[in-house]
Amino acid sequence: MSTNDTVNYANIPVHIGFIMDGNGRWAKARNLLRTQGHNAGVEALEKIVRHCRDIGVRCVTFYVFSTENWLRPKAEVDHLMNLFSSYMDKIIKEINSGKMKTFKDSSIRFIGDMSAFSDDFQEKLKYIEEKTAENGNEFIVNLAVNYGGRAEIIHAVNEFINANPNKLITETDISEKLYTGGLPDPDLIIRTAGESRLSNFLLWQASYSEIYITPVCWPDFTPDELAKAIIDYNKRTRKFGGLVE
Ligand code: IPE
Ligand code: IPE
Ligand code: MG
Repeated sequence: MSTNDTVNYANIPVHIGFIMDGNGRWAKARNLLRTQGHNAGVEALEKIVRHCRDIGVRCVTFYVFSTENWLRPKAEVDHLMNLFSSYMDKIIKEINSGKMKTFKDSSIRFIGDMSAFSDDFQEKLKYIEEKTAENGNEFIVNLAVNYGGRAEIIHAVNEFINANPNKLITETDISEKLYTGGLPDPDLIIRTAGESRLSNFLLWQASYSEIYITPVCWPDFTPDELAKAIIDYNKRTRKFGGLVE
């Protein structure tokens, strides 16, 4: 990237997916606990959400916790769940006081298998979805929690078969039954911390997504780093299997 490169605001991705990786490595490099890395990750997420809305991205999907992340040591899983739960309480307080900050004018949705959570907690998540849906669809924030791309596809297929036992399923049927049904596929998927893999993120939806991988760990991922990703995206030729003159 030359220093003169700037974001082309006429070609901003409509939907960006974020694989927020590297909280642990970020903490380790600073002699901090992994849990502190996750706390710092929340702050990075807040800045990126606001920035995406400001520059005209219409939809963002953050990979918060995968179906495989339960494999981590119990103390880390507990910390992540407590962090998520207390953050949701904070959002509910903001909603009830009419003073939304980070998620102002956003429609928040949870994608993943929420049945892993207690009924009370699922009610809280539903409340957040319903209340923020009143903000309209200008800016949609998907939080992928207990999310796995394979589990999502299986869920979609089963939903369809249950409703239509004698029909053959089509691509459109699956797309509509996914947790992201009705939303456009991500134009850009950003993975921080350098690994070149999807780790079960948006497997169906990523079929023609542009992928950007940065060595920067998630807590250090700033709006400037996002600008670099979008500038890179602006230079891509999307062909979707066809030919582009
Ligand atoms: C991403 O950071 C956060 C979650 C997966 C919940 P990691 O915790 O995976 O950080 P690294 O990969 O160990 O550095
Ligand atoms: C992907 O990161 C999951 C999230 C960011 C929530 P992981 O750290 O779990 O992925 P792997 O294990 O390196 O593939
Ligand atoms: Mg990781």
